[in-house]
Amino acid sequence: MTDIHAQRILILDFGSQYTQLIARRVRELGVFSEIRAWDMDDQEIIDYAPHGIILAGGPESVTEENSPRAPQAVFDLNVPILGICYGMQTMAEQLGGKVEASNLREFGYARIKTEGTSALLKDISDHVENGEKFLDVWMSHGDKVTQMPAGFEILASTESCPIAGMFNAEKNYYGVQFHPEVTHTLQGERLVGHFIHEICGCESLWTPAKIIEDQIARVRAQVGDKKVLLGLSGGVDSSVVAALLHKAIGDQLTCVFVDNGLLRKNEGDAVMDMFADNMGVKVIRSDSADLFLGKLVGVSDPEQKRKVIGNTFIEVFDEEATKIKDVHFLAQGTIYPDVIESAASKTGKAHVIKSHHNVGGLPDDMKMELVEPLRELFKDEVRKMGLELGLPYDMVYRHPFPGPGLGVRILGEVKKEYCEILREADAIFMEELHNFDWYHKTSQAFVVFLPVKSVGVVGDQRRYQWVVSLRAVETIDFMTARWAHLPYDLLEKVSNRIINEVEQISRVAYDVSSKPPATIEWE
Ligand code: XMP
Repeated sequence: MTDIHAQRILILDFGSQYTQLIARRVRELGVFSEIRAWDMDDQEIIDYAPHGIILAGGPESVTEENSPRAPQAVFDLNVPILGICYGMQTMAEQLGGKVEASNLREFGYARIKTEGTSALLKDISDHVENGEKFLDVWMSHGDKVTQMPAGFEILASTESCPIAGMFNAEKNYYGVQFHPEVTHTLQGERLVGHFIHEICGCESLWTPAKIIEDQIARVRAQVGDKKVLLGLSGGVDSSVVAALLHKAIGDQLTCVFVDNGLLRKNEGDAVMDMFADNMGVKVIRSDSADLFLGKLVGVSDPEQKRKVIGNTFIEVFDEEATKIKDVHFLAQGTIYPDVIESAASKTGKAHVIKSHHNVGGLPDDMKMELVEPLRELFKDEVRKMGLELGLPYDMVYRHPFPGPGLGVRILGEVKKEYCEILREADAIFMEELHNFDWYHKTSQAFVVFLPVKSVGVVGDQRRYQWVVSLRAVETIDFMTARWAHLPYDLLEKVSNRIINEVEQISRVAYDVSSKPPATIEWE
């Protein structure tokens, strides 16, 4: 079997928000890449033996004392280097060039002129004018390189930034002041492709089919003939883990699916139908709605509700797990961004840390080892892997659903009656989003139940019933989000249907708050 990790690109992070995007681009082009902090140990870099190194961007200034520098091993290894933004500046400075500080930050579209003949920009241009070639790029700079190190030539320039790119063909060192990893840089993917394929000489080995093959082999080697337990939530990550482990170890896998009464309409049946009935995965369904709802009586504080739901989940899961004898491993759907974020939060290097909601607190006395087959994958890779494993598109590309479920979408105290009303309204909203072809244009959409009553008239009858709000957002990272500009006819259809079909609702509102300052969920 090909070793899909054998050819790899090391990305050193200087704190830019785009670093993960670089790793994703490299992997989309079929080469394994990993992100490490800029102060990675020299020996570790040598042992890592990358085929190429990308020095990523960062918020600091090379001209300031004590700002980060690339480790010496980067330049001693004799492998190609691509410096992006801060990465280019630190490379320039460390190799003997000059960087000048500026208070003026230029950020956004720019047209740059390409210079010289470099392998990086070979056959790449967006415009040709009077025999000169130009690229449309996403530029970001305050400081700029004013003097290149010896042996370097200009790669690209603009009027305000005469050295917008530089290269040393002999050493295979490249620097660009713009961001090839963002889609606004139209030819960015080709540029990254040139770097990893032509310059670093990597092949495209990192593909969903090969990743699956590789993970299956690893899981088998780790698990042997022992038993594995997985908490299946119906979300993308745990579903992909279930499908993968089922393929790798078949009956040695047992999944526990906890129906806590806070799921969407038909969710529980759909999960059982797909995994247990269709795929033949061993799934234990725990119908625990009454237990959860019982514990939630009288609890109206959002954080308290989360705690109650989380603790009850662990209790139920633990109870089901102990019924299965001799389980050695616990599988989890941890993905690469979770790994990067928790590493960054430990070293205090994260600029923004998203709280990570995976099941965190399983009791110590379970004494199980972890199996985490998605640990090195980004969400988009997990999705592609899901499709490759035969999971349906709608499951793999579904919106995220929070662990506490409808518990945080019913404001205040959660009651069974409210759950039932909300489930109906939510199902109508989802159905119409699909009908209008808007489901995949939004990143997350749902209905929120407001425990207040409002007057309405249906026929000749006055109705005094509950209020719900629709929520739909567009976002890339769920850290910031814009409310989705859904078409009026879609909103009209949904509101009419909800009020007509769900008797207990008399009014439908639409939430037009963006994040920040609002959050995506209402609680
Ligand atoms: P907020 O509301 O913080 O949501 O803007 C950002 C994303 O996180 C999800 N979310 C949760 N997921 N447990 C989860 O598993 C939680 O307690 C939780 N709270 C929010 C939310 O659905 C959105 O995708």
